Amino acid sequence: MLALVTGASKGIGKATVELLMKEGYEVVATSRSEPEVGHHRIKLDVSDRGKVEEVVRKVMEEIGEIDVLVNNAGFGVYGSFLETPVEEEEYMVKTNFLGPIYTTKMVYPHMAKRRMGSIVNVVSEAAYVNSPVLLVYSATKAALSSFTNGLWSEARKYGVKVSGVYPGPVKTNFSSHPSFKGREITPKYAVEPEAVARAILKGIRTGKREIYVPSKLRVDPYFLKLANVAQEITYRLVDKFSL
Ligand SMILES: NC(=O)c1ccc[n+]([C@@H]2O[C@H](COP(=O)([O-])OP(=O)(O)OC[C@H]3O[C@@H](n4cnc5c(N)ncnc54)[C@H](OP(=O)(O)O)[C@@H]3O)[C@@H](O)[C@H]2O)c1
Repeated sequence: MLALVTGASKGIGKATVELLMKEGYEVVATSRSEPEVGHHRIKLDVSDRGKVEEVVRKVMEEIGEIDVLVNNAGFGVYGSFLETPVEEEEYMVKTNFLGPIYTTKMVYPHMAKRRMGSIVNVVSEAAYVNSPVLLVYSATKAALSSFTNGLWSEARKYGVKVSGVYPGPVKTNFSSHPSFKGREITPKYAVEPEAVARAILKGIRTGKREIYVPSKLRVDPYFLKLANVAQEITYRLVDKFSL
């Protein structure tokens, strides 16, 4: 089974590559800097649609059909909306939201044709609870959540599993973006990236629409579950009335 992981040089992406390799997957690891782990390590900025198309096409031609796509690449810009330069927000939207659309657009049609495959998007609890210091970041994750839910609904008709993984705080390099100016916002109760990697593997195997990775405080999932119930009702109505 061939898996392609984006944002594989650090944090959750790197832990995911390591877990998938341990589980017997052949892994294509991608990120802007060269990944340290993975059977195939490719430099790829997911905000660049042309490059995504080129790399995915090359992988499919030279390595094989992609069975698993993990859209993990992402970052947050810290600060108020008033003070954040629009160029930084634009690049973040392209990375966090359009990046997964670019990769999925390339990989999903092949999966649908073969009636197999799994796509896992790394979202965030920020999709549900907008953080004022990560305002546009939260909005990119809300957009990614909406896309993931919609794709889950469509793809199941073609035998393709889609899953959104929603971590709370995770101990990674997330706060290393220059906009944080050295602030470390990751709380002590954050989980290790390996916990998110295990949730991603669960998503690959089950196609569960939403998988939460709660912080050690274990409070936040209740808010997320309420929103999930509303989404579930929508899908039941869509199914019932064949919308
Ligand atoms: N840490 C948390 O608390 C937390 C919570 C919820 C969700 N998340 C999400 O988890 C995902 C992974 O983040 P992380 O916490 O593991 O942070 P991280 O340690 O900073 O890793 C981010 C990864 O994304 C890559 N990346 C960033 N921009 C990219 C781009 N334009 N194109 C390709 N790769 C890019 C980085 O590699 P290069 O710099 O080499 O490109 C790196 O490999 C993100 O989508 C993030 O939003 C994180």
